Amino acid sequence: MLNFKEKVVELISNQVESLDKGEIASLIEIPPSYDMGDYAFPAFRLSKIFRKAPNLIAEELVEKFGENECFEKIENAGPYVNFFINKSKLVEVVMEEIKNQGGSYGSSNIGDGKTVIVEYSSPNIAKPFHIGHIRTTVIGNALYKIYKFLGFNTIAINHLGDYGTQFGMLISAYKKWGDKEVIEKDPINELLKLYVRFNSEAEENEELRDESRYWFKELEDGNEEALKLWEWIREISLKEFNKVYDMLNIKFDSYAGESFYSDKMPRVIEELKEKNLMKESEGAYLVDLEDYDMPPALIMKSDGSTLYTTRDIAAAIYRKETYDFYKNIYVVASQQNLHFKQWIKVVELMGYQWAKDCIHIPFGMVSLEDGTLSTRKGRVVFLEDVLNKAIESTLNIIEERNPNLQNKEEVAKQVGIGAVIFQELFNQRIKDYVFSWERTLSFEGETGPYVQYTHARANSLLEKGSFSIEDRVDYNLIKSEDEINIARLLYDFPQVVLNAMEKNEPYFITRQIVEIAKAFNKFYNSSQIIVDDIEVKKARLMLTYGTKEVIRIGLGLLGIEAPNKM
Ligand code: ARG
Repeated sequence: MLNFKEKVVELISNQVESLDKGEIASLIEIPPSYDMGDYAFPAFRLSKIFRKAPNLIAEELVEKFGENECFEKIENAGPYVNFFINKSKLVEVVMEEIKNQGGSYGSSNIGDGKTVIVEYSSPNIAKPFHIGHIRTTVIGNALYKIYKFLGFNTIAINHLGDYGTQFGMLISAYKKWGDKEVIEKDPINELLKLYVRFNSEAEENEELRDESRYWFKELEDGNEEALKLWEWIREISLKEFNKVYDMLNIKFDSYAGESFYSDKMPRVIEELKEKNLMKESEGAYLVDLEDYDMPPALIMKSDGSTLYTTRDIAAAIYRKETYDFYKNIYVVASQQNLHFKQWIKVVELMGYQWAKDCIHIPFGMVSLEDGTLSTRKGRVVFLEDVLNKAIESTLNIIEERNPNLQNKEEVAKQVGIGAVIFQELFNQRIKDYVFSWERTLSFEGETGPYVQYTHARANSLLEKGSFSIEDRVDYNLIKSEDEINIARLLYDFPQVVLNAMEKNEPYFITRQIVEIAKAFNKFYNSSQIIVDDIEVKKARLMLTYGTKEVIRIGLGLLGIEAPNKM
């Protein structure tokens, strides 16, 4: 697609030999409002080179540029050269691109097939899949889709928490109080009960802790009874998790969780020893990180059992050897910042250059309006229940607004779940936020239903106006300020997708499609789209089509569906 900013760089570069294109590009600014132009070039830097006042340089540059089909006006305001994009050119360029790219507008092959691993979701088995897990799950899924859209070879990994001392706890608890039948009826709740009971009894009775450590060690050493119980717990947990993944339409390429690395641990330990990185401390082994202002990384306990950190180191090495990743991304809560800094440092100290390609993408906490969540006390809100409630409430809203809609259930699912995802991806990921039902499900304001509704409205206009993509359109007829605003936002979309990838921030896309929806509704409310003048109608419908397509593509990248009717 024609890049107007590059055109600006080119024009300047033709006149100013002493700056290279990169330097020029970095000097270009976006003026605070469109009546000052779309791009501005400040001439201060040139004043030393030309030994002239910047105002004068700006004036001379304008004269030298002359006429240009990409810009309707180039003028100087003091030391700035302001460039005004040729609007009908802009509209033509963006609309033709959307038309020709057929559903992949904004995509590119900038990734060149390089492998990017996105690890996300990664819940702990036998524990509830609660509202706290939604963030990693939907942020990760969006990043996965964004990288894929940009031509990377993407691999989605669910690093299940299916190993560790808590399984020692569960095995002991099950052996004491467990009942297979009861558990199979309602696995997660019943396992949670066992876990909570074990924890509270262990507070009085230290021996229980020893017992659970014993059983975890047995599990690591391959005790058959322990292994069988563990496998069963893993299986029934995954079944529960998959219900949620199905609702969210999420699939993983690999479920290699922590247990997958149990036989890859000895190698890590050997290697750390060989490289003189391990230190013994009261029978346990650790890597000292004092030089890097961090507490030591614990590698092995005195009973020989390994730890979370060890498994992450083993996993990273395995992934490098298996996938030869270009980037290995971990979408994990900011509470684990230190953990990631520690183990990535250890990998670096082991001499692996690629440690720098392991990237932790942290995010803030979600809480509910009535307080936060805690698994230990058993006070949790299941994600599945949240999604079901969203679907149910949406169905009620549809019954009120549009009782004759076909496939109401299906649409309620797309809108209800979409609303929850949208809300999750609306803010910068590092921000904590409070989950609000009212905000999530509203059809007004900056919400998922609002954007989806705009998409459906655009769709029905296209149907009503018998739009055909083959129609030849006179783009000069798209010229009102409201229309140009839409075109600009559509034009910016590919750059927004790139920025979302570079900063690993899906919310850039969320915000852009909200802006597109708002701009479109402003236009829709102030002008008629299906008018008698056939040429004008065709042009306005083409803009409507572009709006619909870009909203649909944007929602898709976030993992949200775009129903045609709602
Ligand atoms: N299972 C962990 C938890 O629920 C998250 C795992 C994050 N990924 C990792 N490679 N450490 O807290």
